[in-house]
Amino acid sequence: MSVEPEQVVDVSIVINGTECTASVPSRMLLSDFIRHEAGLTGTHVGCEHGVCGCCTVMIDGVSARSCLAFAVQCDGSEIRTVEDLAAVDDTLSPLQQAFHECHALQCGFCTPGFLMAITEFLDRNQRADLSETEVREAISGNLCRCTGYTSIVDAVLLAAKRMYGKED
Ligand code: FES
Ligand code: FES
Repeated sequence: MSVEPEQVVDVSIVINGTECTASVPSRMLLSDFIRHEAGLTGTHVGCEHGVCGCCTVMIDGVSARSCLAFAVQCDGSEIRTVEDLAAVDDTLSPLQQAFHECHALQCGFCTPGFLMAITEFLDRNQRADLSETEVREAISGNLCRCTGYTSIVDAVLLAAKRMYGKED
């Protein structure tokens, strides 16, 4: 049985405001495009089958697992990755700062995925009075093997208070 050679396609994706164009195999995952073609290795790859959430990015404003999309599917899209969260002078975003202060990471492998999923959650729920239950539901699609999640929940609640209300 002969095997067809893999097709190569031109893909152009705007990542964090910069266009990245490359000729890539049609089966290249978006996560590999981001890491190997755009050189943005903040997006981590864990399970590569949609379970762990490490590879979460924003595709046209919506969080998504970049290991479950082919790069060619995102041709013409705008992607936001964890590298875009801090300001140009490297000032951390309120969420990143809260992660730092609450010790919401240990090895850090899962952190980019959590940050992207939670950034979308906070954008959609601009309230200082978020409940722990709401936050736990929001992060339920992301796995962490280190923290036990409590410190991550604390960080989200702190960030929400700072962003949308008054800090205690
Ligand atoms: Fe994409 Fe695990 S690497 S969900
Ligand atoms: Fe290690 Fe989450 S901090 S997996």
